[in-house]
Amino acid sequence: MSRFPFPIPNGWFAVAESSQVSREQVVPVHYLDRDLVVFRTSSGKANVLDAYCAHMGAHLGIGPGSPGDREPGPGTVIGECVRCPFHGWLYNGTGACVEIPYTTSRIPGKARVQAWEVREQNGLIFVWHHLEGQPPAWEIPALEEFDSPDWDGPIVTERTISTCLQEMQENDHDFVHFKYVHGTDDIRTATITYDETRRIKTTTEYLEAGRDFAKGATVISTETGFSREAHQLGFVVLRVPNLLSFVAASTPIDQETVHQRWVFAFPNSIGKEAGKKLLDAFTYQGIYEDIPIWENKRYVDSPVFVKGDGPIAEFRKWASQFYSL
Ligand code: FES
Ligand SMILES: [Fe+2]
Repeated sequence: MSRFPFPIPNGWFAVAESSQVSREQVVPVHYLDRDLVVFRTSSGKANVLDAYCAHMGAHLGIGPGSPGDREPGPGTVIGECVRCPFHGWLYNGTGACVEIPYTTSRIPGKARVQAWEVREQNGLIFVWHHLEGQPPAWEIPALEEFDSPDWDGPIVTERTISTCLQEMQENDHDFVHFKYVHGTDDIRTATITYDETRRIKTTTEYLEAGRDFAKGATVISTETGFSREAHQLGFVVLRVPNLLSFVAASTPIDQETVHQRWVFAFPNSIGKEAGKKLLDAFTYQGIYEDIPIWENKRYVDSPVFVKGDGPIAEFRKWASQFYSL
């Protein structure tokens, strides 16, 4: 029985790091419960298509093997298109077959594969997923820190976790767990605000001067806030002003497995060593405290809430908008 009653929600989901897909390279990936290919054209544009050729079902991202090493070969990009390794059909970024090299008959209308709407920003390649096949209903922001000469980044870290986006993101409203899972001295609260559409939700935790932050990686010098701006399930921008910014981009591999990427930037003014310490505190300590809880719990639809629990019901109401529009 599934531990979670949720389908893969609507939104933008990262399917590769930009640096993993060079020009004229095809990368096979499995996300959103499907096989996909990410390919970058000769002109540099990233495209994402369903992996299986409309002709006879070959995988567009896996070429013929060589007798020597018995390894599969790479897929092939020709200009702005990807070529199927089986019989040479050529597909462009819209998923249309534009050439069948050996036939004199016209290209059938059914000679196409599903193309995904793509955005490339924050060092990642995203696709739009919608449960009812609707076009993008919103955009996600590009962090200006990544383009600034005054900031170091983007620095990508990643991990795969047996859970779903709903469970991971509920953490932001679960104020009590910070004490028991992450060892904070007291139960800290946060303020929750919404934009006018109620899609973008910001949770801000007050950080007083003198407070140890990120497992003692640094001490907060002047009072500030740690904001977590959730644009959807699976895309959150986290910031402590002048100290750290990062994008948390999480992609369902299937309904019970998530690939999480955190893309960091920190200002040059704090120094490389301090930046690395902060990043390590989040990446190698904080998240690994949560993972065993997430991987071994199950979702409870009607929890036994008591006074003092965080605003979990409020989170669930917000999250429900991403399962349809
Ligand atoms: S299976 Fe792709 S061209 Fe034949
Ligand atoms: Fe947590």
